[in-house]
Amino acid sequence: MTSEMDLKSKTQEKFNELYGPGASLYASAGRINLIGEHTDYNEGFVLPGAIDRGIVAAVRPNGTDTVRLYSLDFGSTAEFGLEEKDGPREQWARYVFGVCREIVKRGGRVGGFDAVFAGDVPAGAGLSSSAALESCFAFALDDLFNDGRIDRFELARIGQSTEHNYIGVNCGIMDQFASVFGRRGCLMRLDCRSLEHEYFPFDPQGYTLVLVDSVVKHELSGSPYNERRASCERVAGRLGLPSLREATMEQLEAVRPDLSDEDYRRARYVIGERDRVIGVCDALRRGDYESVGRLMYETHEGLSHDYEVSCPELDFLVDVARDCGVTGSRIMGGGFGGCTVNLVRDSLLHPFLDTARARFADRYGHEPRIYEVNISDGARKL
Ligand code: GLA
Repeated sequence: MTSEMDLKSKTQEKFNELYGPGASLYASAGRINLIGEHTDYNEGFVLPGAIDRGIVAAVRPNGTDTVRLYSLDFGSTAEFGLEEKDGPREQWARYVFGVCREIVKRGGRVGGFDAVFAGDVPAGAGLSSSAALESCFAFALDDLFNDGRIDRFELARIGQSTEHNYIGVNCGIMDQFASVFGRRGCLMRLDCRSLEHEYFPFDPQGYTLVLVDSVVKHELSGSPYNERRASCERVAGRLGLPSLREATMEQLEAVRPDLSDEDYRRARYVIGERDRVIGVCDALRRGDYESVGRLMYETHEGLSHDYEVSCPELDFLVDVARDCGVTGSRIMGGGFGGCTVNLVRDSLLHPFLDTARARFADRYGHEPRIYEVNISDGARKL
């Protein structure tokens, strides 16, 4: 049984037990990102894809103005009134509350409903479990209360605004966009300013994409994530630009004396990363995965030394990958823990994973978790 089928049957079963039969089922996805990290809120380009790990929710309107939720993963319930100002205390329920509020803010309708949901995106691994939750409910509530009239771009923005206004993470649009727009077998090159996107079939013959999770948890709210964004905005402001998207290294060097060393290095990373995304797209068109991998390592260097969102455990995993001859490896997602994304030649996959497990356990006292992912569809009705 696939994991989604498993999620589907346990979600439905629990819904029937708690609220009686008759729910509609929805699914959405977490995401990976091949390259283009911390470029989304700089109005740059990213190259994510939805994965075959996500959230499944059973949802049914209940004719009241109360929302009743059950999270199978937490084994607990939460309830809130749609007119409430502050929302529920449980963090996981705040995501759903935020989605409801953001739909209403945009003129959409949301009535009371009952829902049970479960997921298989590990939380805090950098795979966007929160975007999966947001997009699943945004999609479901659009379908159930708005006849699918909210366009998909807006569904992604609803998730992003939920992060900004109810969770406190000033994130970009990448995660929610990938979670809503994901397409099986394709990465998407997304222009985070215009939201224009191009699907890139991704089937690297002879290579596997594997995630190695350090199991070091990161918490983006109240974390240096928002400070990174603030640094970028300060530098863009100093350059007289709306964002770092158009900034060049020459312009950055010219204002260097006016910047803190930290802000300078943050911007240097972002400008370099913009060029690397373009480089990876060109390499993918040529089927040149060795160049893709080289750029992934460069991204890691930038994220570790200039952007400073890595940590010893993740640097260690990238070093192990390099030692094992892995084609490309880097920290993925917001940073401060989570996992590395690795592009590995098939013949090296098992030796790499065995070595990573053994060396990591030797150093940190526990094994990393390994996830092989498939690029899959985003939010949808089941
Ligand atoms: C988190 C954010 C995204 C993006 C990445 C870093 O996942 O939610 O918007 O900024 O970090 O690329």
